[in-house]
Amino acid sequence: VFMHEMMGLSVLERQLKDILQRDNIVVVPGNSDEQEWVKQEMGKACVTFLKENVSSDRTMAVTGGTTMAAIAEMMSPFDGDTECLFVPARGGIGEKEENQANTIAAKMARQAKGSYRLLYVPDPLSESSYRTMMKEPAVIDILKIIQGSDIVLHGIGDAITMAKRRKTSNDIMRKLREKEAVSEAFGYYFNAAGEVVHKVRTIGIHLDDLSESSQLVITVAGGKSKARAITSYFKQGRSDLLITDEAAAEAILREN
Ligand code: F6P
Repeated sequence: VFMHEMMGLSVLERQLKDILQRDNIVVVPGNSDEQEWVKQEMGKACVTFLKENVSSDRTMAVTGGTTMAAIAEMMSPFDGDTECLFVPARGGIGEKEENQANTIAAKMARQAKGSYRLLYVPDPLSESSYRTMMKEPAVIDILKIIQGSDIVLHGIGDAITMAKRRKTSNDIMRKLREKEAVSEAFGYYFNAAGEVVHKVRTIGIHLDDLSESSQLVITVAGGKSKARAITSYFKQGRSDLLITDEAAAEAILREN
């Protein structure tokens, strides 16, 4: 049974690589929409990858969400003498405390016996407070660390699900519907072609930073309900590794 399952998943991985046109994809069994442990399985796969490919003196920027929180739970100390440094990739973006990037960065650091730096910004930020905050030496300092991080770990969400979870205003909800937003990552909303249709103003990593950098970007997102969102992000989004689950993979293959 085990071998059969392994073979089934590797076939899925191969087909998904063709469709999303990426070389590095890992599929874990199950459906994280329905089974909470599947997020932990994706978390385990992510931690295993990090342990095998990343040295202990690295800086990792992480986004928020329940998937990232599950990775934090699975995190454990790295071999080596130097500590990993964990930072949030962007400001709060409307998540519950336990699912905020700050909380997750701190938890990852605790689990990995590393260190962390936090970024406190209200969000969404008005244009004028954004400009004011960007002059604060403490903000500039942490922003440099975030933008210079070696690894970026991030989630993807369904656009409307995320907008509701963030209690987004009616105006913006209307804009997202009009522009047919399908996915969300890093506070950016994308349509089916992977074009940015809206972004939440906050401090931290911007998509432009990612496209120009040598950072290793790891995407972790699963569940049947995220199939369209994953396809949308991967149309144009920067990612060096996707960790997903069987249900998302099967739905992506069916829809494409
Ligand atoms: O809000 C942070 C975030 O990483 C979003 O960018 C992403 O859409 C979402 O969380 C994923 O959350 P979850 O893992 O709970 O589906």
